[in-house]
Formats: sequence, C-alpha cells, structure tokens
Amino acid sequence: MSYSTGTEKNNAGPPPIPPGSFDEEEHKLYGEDSGYAGGADEGGRPTSFLPIDIDCLKLDEGAPCDLYTLNDTGNYTLFAGKGLPVDADRVLTLTDNGVEKVFVPQSEANLYFIYLKRFLEETVHSPRYSTARKSRVVHAACRDIMARVFQDPRAPFLQHAVDIIQTTVDLLVHDGSATRHLVHLTEHDPLTYIHSTNVGIFSIALARVFLGADAEREMKSLGPGFFLHDLGKTRIPLNVLYKKGTLDPSEWDIVRRHPGDGHDLLEAEGFLTDESSIIVLQHHERDDGQGYPNCLPASEIHPYARICRMADVFEALTSERPYRKKLKTFDALKLMKEKILTDIDKDLFHHFVRLFC
Ligand SMILES: [Fe+2]
Repeated sequence: MSYSTGTEKNNAGPPPIPPGSFDEEEHKLYGEDSGYAGGADEGGRPTSFLPIDIDCLKLDEGAPCDLYTLNDTGNYTLFAGKGLPVDADRVLTLTDNGVEKVFVPQSEANLYFIYLKRFLEETVHSPRYSTARKSRVVHAACRDIMARVFQDPRAPFLQHAVDIIQTTVDLLVHDGSATRHLVHLTEHDPLTYIHSTNVGIFSIALARVFLGADAEREMKSLGPGFFLHDLGKTRIPLNVLYKKGTLDPSEWDIVRRHPGDGHDLLEAEGFLTDESSIIVLQHHERDDGQGYPNCLPASEIHPYARICRMADVFEALTSERPYRKKLKTFDALKLMKEKILTDIDKDLFHHFVRLFC
C-alpha cells in the first residue's frame, strides 16, 4: 500500500513529545520498545496503520497524533496533523460519506490510546453529553482497544484495555439507561475482537441486574475477565478460527485449548486476577459436565463464568458465521432456552432476557 501526506512534518517523522508532559511519562512506560513501533519507509513516512473509530475523536481540539484517511485506491492521506484541530465540519463530511474509520501510524498508537482514555473519561463523566453519545464513544473505544489487544496481547495494550473497561463499567453502573443503548449498539460480527467487546458489554449488563448496582466494586473486578475471556484465541491459527465447515478432531483440540491459553497469557503479562482466572478458564464449562476444558460439575462452576457463557452463546448466535446465518434476538433467546442452555440457571436466563425488553 502507498500513501500521500503533503506535509514536511511527516517527511521529518513525528514531532517529539513535549518534555515533562503526561504523554511523555506514559509514552516512556509503554513506548516503542513495548511493541508500538510501526513500519516506515526511507523518508520516515509511516507504512503501517491502526484503524480507529471516528467517534473517538474530540472535535475542534488538537489531534493526538497524525490522522489519515484511506481512499478507494488504498492510499493514506493526511487528514489532521498532530496537535492541529480536528475540524468538526470535515469530520461531518467524512461521516456523511459513510466513513467510520480514520488511521493512525502504528508507531503513534500509544499516544492515541492515552488520548482515548482521557477523552473517554471526560465524555463518560460529563453532564454535557447524552447517554446515547456516551454509549457510542464507549463502544467505539472498546472496539479500538480490543482490536489492538487481539493483534498483540501484551502488557501495554492490556493495561490500556483494563483502563478503558473500567470506564465502561463506570458508565453501565451509574447510568441505568446505558445498558439499553449499548445493547443496541452491538453490531454482530464474527471478528473475535468485536465478539469479545459485545460479550463484555452483555456480561457487565447481566452482572449488574444479577448482582445489583450496589456491587460496583465486584463488577469492576469482573470487567477485564468478561472482555478478555477469549484472549486465548489469539493462539488459534486463523485457518482454524475462521474455518468454513466442521472442525476435525485435531482442530477441536486446538480450539479447546483457548481457555487455558487465555489464562496463561494473562498470567504471563501480570493481568491475572482471581475473577479473570475464573471467567477465562470456566466460560465453556457446562452444568451437565459436558463442557471444556475440565468437564467441571455444576457445583464447581462459578456464577461469573455462567454469566459470561450466556452472553457468549447469545453473541455467537446473533452473529454471522461462515457456516450459518445469524439469528434475530427473539429466535436466539428461544433457541438458547429450548435447546442450548437447558443445563443453566433459569433465573440467570430470565435476567438476561430482560436486558432486551
Ligand atoms: Fe471462548
């Protein structure tokens, strides 16, 4: 792929981060040595980009890093230079033309995620924004960071993910109508990071009604486990993960390893908590003892894992799969009740159905 920038600044590479700024501190902590370095050509111009959601840009304020658009011929064009205002009218023109993504150089992705966390915090806690707007930004931010985490599940990205998930839980706990908005925003897609984002949101929403809004601390500690339950899928080869048709026994063996792999990845990166350990390891266990990886009996399956499994099954049924069409909400819930979740707690299912009323 090629691109055009049209600015001297880009030919000279990104400008230095202002000394002493918060950005500098975090950038040192999670800087280029931590996996953010992206490709560049001989002129120092970026060749590798991270797509970001246009809803995650603060309008009429300085861009956190160079922002690009991608045209029909595969060329990246500079849209806003680092530090220059993100013009609201130009963004509106893009969205009017159906553009949903802009791009940041991979080498500047860290700056973008630092900016995103602040923007998200401000948005969620500001009385100026509607719940609908807050929900859109939260969902977009979760998608952006989950896409990065599933590309490279290492500590710097996991830390950004945990921070963004905490703000998401904040919104769901403190704004009762946010659940309704977020549930309707879940666009069902077979991509693992979108599936994981949706399962995270459904699970927190279900935990909120099941545990009660008073259990705020409990839900904050559950959030990362719900969002990262399928992290082990990053170790499944793509030809198996997205295979059309039935998996053979050896491919099933690979798939069945993902709860244990996810647990090991989180442990290796220092992000394993008691709650995430339970959720990641047990989210495919079944009360009839037919689940995996450990065929646990019902008495040993934690309610946190049951919450995640319910959200996971619903999300899978309502997403297009290579081997079948997606189901509508009502049909998915009916199938879950009658055929799939016959082993699971009826009270929990009742609470789940109420999320859609
Ligand atoms: Fe899974």
